Amino acid sequence: MSAPTQTAAVVNEKNPPIAIARKLTKVYGSGDTRVVALDGVSIEIERGSFTAIMGPSGSGKSTLMHCMAGLDRPSDGHVFVDGNPISTLSERQLTKLRRTRLGFVFQAFNLIPTLTALENITLPIDLARGKVDQAWLDAVIDAVGLADRLGHKPSELSGGQQQRVACARALVTRPSIVFADEPTGNLDSVSSHEVLTFLRKSVDELGQSVVVVTHDPGTAAFADRVLFLADGAVVGDLCDPTVDSVIDALREHSERSRARGRHTTNGATGDSAKGDDLR
Ligand SMILES: Nc1ncnc2c1ncn2[C@@H]1O[C@H](COP(=O)(O)OP(=O)(O)OP(=O)(O)O)[C@@H](O)[C@H]1O
Ligand SMILES: [Mg+2]
Repeated sequence: MSAPTQTAAVVNEKNPPIAIARKLTKVYGSGDTRVVALDGVSIEIERGSFTAIMGPSGSGKSTLMHCMAGLDRPSDGHVFVDGNPISTLSERQLTKLRRTRLGFVFQAFNLIPTLTALENITLPIDLARGKVDQAWLDAVIDAVGLADRLGHKPSELSGGQQQRVACARALVTRPSIVFADEPTGNLDSVSSHEVLTFLRKSVDELGQSVVVVTHDPGTAAFADRVLFLADGAVVGDLCDPTVDSVIDALREHSERSRARGRHTTNGATGDSAKGDDLR
């Protein structure tokens, strides 16, 4: 009778979530300028999965990512990455963890212009004075598909190639998890596809865990699961998304939000043209 429960417990123990947010709250400012960017968010990210986070502009997506990646401190609540309670680490411990266990990809690539693609990729290891795991580096470079561009500087690469270098840099330390905040926000559709294919490959073939913030249903459809945020709270959770199911879910959340009369009034970004808010 108890067999299924035991099995479930064993499976869970064997594959605990790679990242956990517990009752995460983030408040900016005070008085008239007080903004509750996160309002008690609890999520679990499965190891070896590709998760997308969506929601209207100002709903708290970047704040959630920054808190989970140790780039910002929550006002309340806890974050665990691969079992490490990152919200209670000292600044020094956090820096070390960020360098070795966390990868981050920004919308604006953030490559060092004077370094070659290869030097940019290995930068986190060089900064940590670590040793390059050549087999892993070869696997990442193979997956990123830039073997013939490694000696080029960022200015000699296309936007898509630069972002793939940034993704490889985020993966080079073999991090517990990679967070990417609108990694395709500055890219055309062909370059976006290249970057997303690489991130998908890093999950399927290299066993990485990836979380991507996006406004684009096409990007979200690359993921295994989509979490929807509104007003600093999780309002939806969609498994095995398709472009159509993501658009339907966005429309539903937008209508519900409007019905509640609490629709985010922050200025919409240009990304809304991609259909993020559907309002
Ligand atoms: N440093 C800050 N100081 C004050 N308020 C902030 C700060 N950063 C974010 N906010 C506010 O917190 C809320 C959530 O912002 P956040 O950047 O997380 O939204 P987002 O969902 O990433 O939006 P977008 O899709 O436009 O990037 C917004 O109302 C924003 O104005
Ligand atoms: Mg953002």
